[in-house]
Amino acid sequence: MHMSLPPNADLPTLRNHLAQYSQSHLVQFWEQLSAQEQDRLRKQLAEIDFEQLAQLVAGKDDEVDFAALAARSTPPPSVDARGEGADWTVEQALAKGREALSQGQVAAVIVAGGQGTRLGFDKPKGMFPIGPLSERTLFQIFADRLLAIGDAFGVSIPLYLMTSPATHDETVAYWEENQWLGMSPDDVRVFCQGTMPAVDARSGRVLLADKDQIALSPDGHGGTVAALKKSGCLADAQRRGVRYLSYGQVDNPLVYLCDPGLIGHHIAADSEMTTQVVRKRYPTEKVGNVVLADGKVQIIEYSDLPEEAAHQKDDDGQLKLWAGSIAVHVCDVDFFQRMSDQADALPFHRANKKVPYIDEHGDQVSPEQPNAIKFERFIFDLLPAAKNAFVVEGLPEDVFAPVKNADGAPADTPELARQAMVEQARRQLEEAGIEVAEGVQVEINPRFALDAEALRSKLAGTKRIERDTYFQ
Ligand code: UTP
Repeated sequence: MHMSLPPNADLPTLRNHLAQYSQSHLVQFWEQLSAQEQDRLRKQLAEIDFEQLAQLVAGKDDEVDFAALAARSTPPPSVDARGEGADWTVEQALAKGREALSQGQVAAVIVAGGQGTRLGFDKPKGMFPIGPLSERTLFQIFADRLLAIGDAFGVSIPLYLMTSPATHDETVAYWEENQWLGMSPDDVRVFCQGTMPAVDARSGRVLLADKDQIALSPDGHGGTVAALKKSGCLADAQRRGVRYLSYGQVDNPLVYLCDPGLIGHHIAADSEMTTQVVRKRYPTEKVGNVVLADGKVQIIEYSDLPEEAAHQKDDDGQLKLWAGSIAVHVCDVDFFQRMSDQADALPFHRANKKVPYIDEHGDQVSPEQPNAIKFERFIFDLLPAAKNAFVVEGLPEDVFAPVKNADGAPADTPELARQAMVEQARRQLEEAGIEVAEGVQVEINPRFALDAEALRSKLAGTKRIERDTYFQ
């Protein structure tokens, strides 16, 4: 595939290789480094595919005419939140999802890499205490859900948890110190995503973060596919007889991981990748738009969607491009395997970012303006390649409470996510016939009750809840 450096390359070999790609400056400080530092740099250099990088730097992103693409886009094949739009009923889908779960055919993938810059939390995002009363971390919320679902279906659900170099060690230590949050250590595999070098936007030269260190950044959530394979997780899933991966992001505590309904629709549609969406609240909402264009389900980013196209209406006066992505997917293991075998299955996107670096004198520079290009892959770029890709509408209050920004920001804050969790618990209690006094906070651990039905039997005799309660 790529002409990489051997991990033990000597200086002349390094110089020779780097010179071919005009990247000789990367060993500029070599003589000043200790043997250990040289080793570190050598390893990082060996990981870089300079040929591929040169192509990415030279090539422009495909020039897509988004106005034309949006104009010929139609709503994707989907089932809406009332269960309409598919050739099967919600009950039929549920039955299929439950069967797959009870046969141990489902595993969970949570992506918890990235850098979490906006939240301003100094630990991995998954360690953020989000439980409104329990202060459970995001990781704990997901572990509890998987344990509850496993119990309900008489299986144990494997979890493949993706980290980045910035979050890996702390994440592993956290799970270890907390006895794997109640899960069996055999069922949790923490694997690290890949990285890409950041390059100077003007010269295309790879930036040095330090004299012995390349400026590397995570390769995007699309890196999941390659990292699942490289880490052996894909093979592990196959060994266990897992056929479906339920995928979610760690920063949305409302992701219903391993939702039998979503999995069931995926199976009923004979789809290789199914994505959950919410109905956009207004035309230019900042979410990816899931559309059907040129026979393929694909996503048009909000930033690429022309205003006019965003406002298009259908015959009923509803938004034509209504489906907003929330990054919750179900994918076939076989599909991931196929995609991971194709090196170029997922394109790289470029983003202009501020990346601190050291200059040719070895001085630290902290740029005030974007100076660098980072390369990232997006998981949703798999959609066009998937057979029968399918879309399932969820209600935002049930499935979407992203934790992106620090409290005080207008949207996507921990405070709003906690509110959403409390409101969801309140609705579940009310559905179970239990009143919740106004202003009272409630939180339900899925291990206490997974749904309203279970709540009803657990809380038989309770009519009204008068004070803040965590049902654990
Ligand atoms: P975001 O795009 O919100 O990025 O990731 P982020 O790194 O968490 O936060 P900011 O943008 O720096 O503030 C969405 C989800 O995808 C995961 C994140 O962990 C988050 O759950 N992700 C993102 C990865 O796992 N790897 C990546 O390279 C990027």
